[in-house]
Amino acid sequence: MLQQLLNDAKQEIKFGYLKKKHPFRYPVLASIEGNIPQQRTVVLRDATDGFKLVFFTDKRSPKVKQLNENPAASLLFYHPKKLLQIKVIGTMHCVEKGEEVARYWSKIQGNSAKDFSTAKAPGTPIKNPDQVDYLDEQHHFCILKLKPEAIEYLQLKRPNHIRARFSIHDDWRGEFLTP
Ligand SMILES: Cc1cc2nc3c(=O)[nH]c(=O)nc-3n(C[C@H](O)[C@H](O)[C@H](O)COP(=O)(O)O)c2cc1C
Repeated sequence: MLQQLLNDAKQEIKFGYLKKKHPFRYPVLASIEGNIPQQRTVVLRDATDGFKLVFFTDKRSPKVKQLNENPAASLLFYHPKKLLQIKVIGTMHCVEKGEEVARYWSKIQGNSAKDFSTAKAPGTPIKNPDQVDYLDEQHHFCILKLKPEAIEYLQLKRPNHIRARFSIHDDWRGEFLTP
């Protein structure tokens, strides 16, 4: 049953990028700045064959600096209809160059590409929301890749809630936890 739960968790996460309206499309990503946790919503874009989770961002954004200094990261997925929460903990790295980055960038079009082409770095103060300038022919796109080291599954249901934890350190065999 534990392996079935792990497979279900991975399949549900894959639906996040395969199905447009799936709630797992928008997980919350936590990183650490100094000793303060920082969180933000991101769009899950893909998973690699080794189940590394892929996100897009601007390489000038504060989260990239935080992850370069401390790659520890955590993702929280929540499915309101299934009352299912999945936490993925691991290390996250920014990939700025190479064939893989070029391949993802080639699929981004129009207004979405503008998200990575602001003249000023994300988070720079401006006087009002109309005052955003964009770069021509230049962008700051990068991909973030999370390598999972632990996955925690929690589903609230009657008669018994189901909570289980899986870790790379025990070869993903997993164990049930008191919910
Ligand atoms: C629905 C939604 C989806 C978002 N998706 C992304 C995303 O895929 N990548 C990203 O860098 N920021 C995304 N953002 C913006 C982030 O939540 C965040 O505000 C921004 O990346 C700056 O984060 P940082 O200052 O911690 O680096 C999204 C925000 C919302 C509301």
